[in-house]
Amino acid sequence: MNTIETIQRRRSIRHFDKDFKIPKEDIDQLIKLAMLSPTSYNIQHWKFVVVDDIEKKQQLQDAAIGQVQVTEASHLILVTTDIKAWEKDMSDKWKNVPKEVGDFMSSSAREFYKEKNQLQRDEAIRSASFATQTILLAATAMGYQTGTMIGFDFDKAAEIISLPEHHIISNFVVVGKGLKEAMPRGGQLPLEKVLITDSF
Ligand SMILES: Cc1cc2nc3c(=O)[nH]c(=O)nc-3n(C[C@H](O)[C@H](O)[C@H](O)COP(=O)(O)O)c2cc1C
Repeated sequence: MNTIETIQRRRSIRHFDKDFKIPKEDIDQLIKLAMLSPTSYNIQHWKFVVVDDIEKKQQLQDAAIGQVQVTEASHLILVTTDIKAWEKDMSDKWKNVPKEVGDFMSSSAREFYKEKNQLQRDEAIRSASFATQTILLAATAMGYQTGTMIGFDFDKAAEIISLPEHHIISNFVVVGKGLKEAMPRGGQLPLEKVLITDSF
């Protein structure tokens, strides 16, 4: 499946085969691919919480208005993101370049985000969103079905996974073997309503 076909094939699936388990190597591969997604200053705000524990999954389903895909999909991944990642040590993130380049990137990032609370949060969500799309497309290309969700109680979900300080949950991702085809697409806007040339 090429990239264009993968994008066209990806749909939000809500019913999964409960008995089907994706091998761990494939889940690791999905996370490794997600980690190649672009981030501002290579900050890599993300942490991916793969929830295995059945009780926790059930609690998360309850927190997600009972949405069955939370427990029925082979894997549930909570894409979490660190709002303060920009001010933390970045040496790992620039370890392959000369130290002065890494130091420059790190101090530039701190300068860029300092005291801009809204931007810090936007950036964390932006990174998580790119990573989420990578997971959705990679899983589709690997022959799995996926869904992403924000229909859940964020505070309850944070408590269930013991979310650390300064982190937020961006969204859930479910991945597995879909049982039903998605309904026809709800309806995409016409190109002329979304493609703007030069300015509004
Ligand atoms: C940020 C976000 C949150 C979503 N939350 C939910 C959700 O809680 N439950 C659900 O069933 N679908 C959810 N969806 C799926 C959307 O309904 C779906 O992407 C949209 O209808 C377009 O359909 P498609 O993904 O099949 O192209 C969400 C999608 C996004 C991007």
